[in-house]
Amino acid sequence: MKKINNPPIEWLGNRVRILDQTRLPQEEVYLELNNYQAIASAITGLKIRGAPAIGVAGSYGVALGALEIEAKSRDEFLRRLQGISQTLAATRPTAKNLFRAIDRMQQVAAVGEDIEQTKKALIDEAVKIHSEEVEATKKLSQLGAELIQDGFSILTHCNTGTLATAGYGTALGVIKRAKEQSKNIKVLATETRPLLQGARLTTWELKRANIPFTLITDSMAGYFMSRGEVSCVIVGADRIAANGDTANKIGTYSLAVLAKENGIPFYVAAPTTTIDLSLASGDEIPIEQRNPNEVTHIQGVSIAPEGINVANPAFDVTPHKYITTIITERGIIKEPYGEELK
Ligand code: MRU
Repeated sequence: MKKINNPPIEWLGNRVRILDQTRLPQEEVYLELNNYQAIASAITGLKIRGAPAIGVAGSYGVALGALEIEAKSRDEFLRRLQGISQTLAATRPTAKNLFRAIDRMQQVAAVGEDIEQTKKALIDEAVKIHSEEVEATKKLSQLGAELIQDGFSILTHCNTGTLATAGYGTALGVIKRAKEQSKNIKVLATETRPLLQGARLTTWELKRANIPFTLITDSMAGYFMSRGEVSCVIVGADRIAANGDTANKIGTYSLAVLAKENGIPFYVAAPTTTIDLSLASGDEIPIEQRNPNEVTHIQGVSIAPEGINVANPAFDVTPHKYITTIITERGIIKEPYGEELK
């Protein structure tokens, strides 16, 4: 299996190297970021994306920001670190992983005494958050692969692999693990409008993993489901509310409803860092609204008249009743999600 040459995100001691996902699949360009503002704009600009990867990037951002602070007192250090954390938290609202990672970093900062020691502790914590995500995605992929049978044709949406997780992957991790178990599987990958994470990134990862796949447009999913050509749907998640309602890439809800109508199992794969028990239901999940240009343009080329009304919600919420199982590193759960998630 061909590996991504360098990890999609890596801590290099005093800077962070990321693979610029906006340039894929045409070019494999690595960027070295040495300040927290650069991390924040890489997250906003989707150079690094996917819920777990955003969490990892956010924690490295806090660590970089801490290194930049020259403070006369511990209070000043903490105040400035708070500002840095707020900038990073303001990048993307939906993925829980980002807020969880930043909270963890704040907690580490709060207990330190000496500023230089706190900076070191923050770097250690960010590296730990990263390695925990790697382990969690490996584990959940192993557990989820049990649901994939030999001969399955699996439909997946968006990109949920190494690129999106800075680890092994969530939905795509499950698919990769099933392939490593020598199961004869094939994948239908949706292109994932408007930003084409499926067409650009998932196909790039599937090709490298030697997994047979077919790229389809988002609107073709029902056609293939109704013809009996989909054995299961598996997607990742950006935030899972306490009742199991799940926010994921726009279009996921439509796939879930279609899957139910066609009697096809619908699986969600996510590390527990994506779960937000503080929200009772998906109604409370903040949904990111992105720039209309992403809809009116494809890779910089305009495809619509100027001055028209455009909507661009980046995520939608799939009610838990459409979800067959949620796969986490701590186990595979079913309804009643309210009790199982706790
Ligand atoms: O806008 P993106 O590309 O960050 O959206 C990513 C997704 O919606 C993924 O499905 C989700 O983060 C799960 S990835 C492990």
